[in-house]
Amino acid sequence: MFYKVHQGVQLDSQTVENLRSRKWIKSNAIRVYKNKVNIVAELKLKVNGEDKHVVVKYFGWRNTVSFILSPFMRSRAQKTFDHSLLLLANGIRVPAPIAVYTFRRFGFIGENFIVMEKIRDYRLAREVIRDDNESLERKKTIVREIGRIIRKIHEINYVHNDLTLGNFLVDADHNVYLIDLNRMKKKFFLSWQRKMYELAKLNLCSCDLAYSHKDCLYVELLEEYSGDKSKKLYELMRKAIRKNRLRRKAKKLLRWRKKV
Ligand SMILES: Nc1ncnc2c1ncn2[C@@H]1O[C@H](COP(=O)(O)OP(=O)(O)OP(=O)(O)O)[C@@H](O)[C@H]1O
Ligand SMILES: [Mg+2]
Repeated sequence: MFYKVHQGVQLDSQTVENLRSRKWIKSNAIRVYKNKVNIVAELKLKVNGEDKHVVVKYFGWRNTVSFILSPFMRSRAQKTFDHSLLLLANGIRVPAPIAVYTFRRFGFIGENFIVMEKIRDYRLAREVIRDDNESLERKKTIVREIGRIIRKIHEINYVHNDLTLGNFLVDADHNVYLIDLNRMKKKFFLSWQRKMYELAKLNLCSCDLAYSHKDCLYVELLEEYSGDKSKKLYELMRKAIRKNRLRRKAKKLLRWRKKV
């Protein structure tokens, strides 16, 4: 049995067929942002009868286990769509979702993609934060907005699971958008350790939250995230930063071992 699940704006059937093909997306893209397991590309599509510049994210498979379990799961495109609506409803800026399609064969997920709003004139938060020509005030403002976004996500008992500065887009009006929402998960219980671990992944400063560092961006982040309580969280945060550093080292080592 073959069937498709769709939500959002109805695209015409030819467009939907086209978007099922990685090859078509790549050869018709105005710009390809990412072309690995997933493809992220800017395309001009007819949306509600009008030509519109949109971003399409087409999801591939990373491992066979996920494929085998897929009859019991939502597609990653569908998760992204659902999480986008959830975050928008909670006052968090994300690219507005336009349409999502999931094709299944005997329940197994086949092609799945999301069409979303294109964010214009942005830089990755990572670029801004690492830019020596940017003022500290601007960096602090961005970090504070990131802190607000993460606080709101944790308040509704979710974790993002891929919080890197590369997943925040900062537009020309200084609005901050969160992307890459397919790994988000609802938690029955969200411990402070887990919360701090998410924050630590942002990799904001190399000082490990030392008292001696005056303009540490982690301090800024924690103040926005938890207000008066922030100082009480320093020790947990330091542990989380150390844990994250170890994880990154282990990952690097694994990658290096794979190469040799
Ligand atoms: N709505 C959007 N508007 C403009 N650019 C976008 C949008 N969504 C994604 N991008 C660009 O595409 C890049 C990759 O997107 P994204 O982070 O969703 O993919 P990814 O990191 O490959 O995902 P995954 O971690 O699931 O493999 C982003 O860094 C950003 O530059
Ligand atoms: Mg990403």
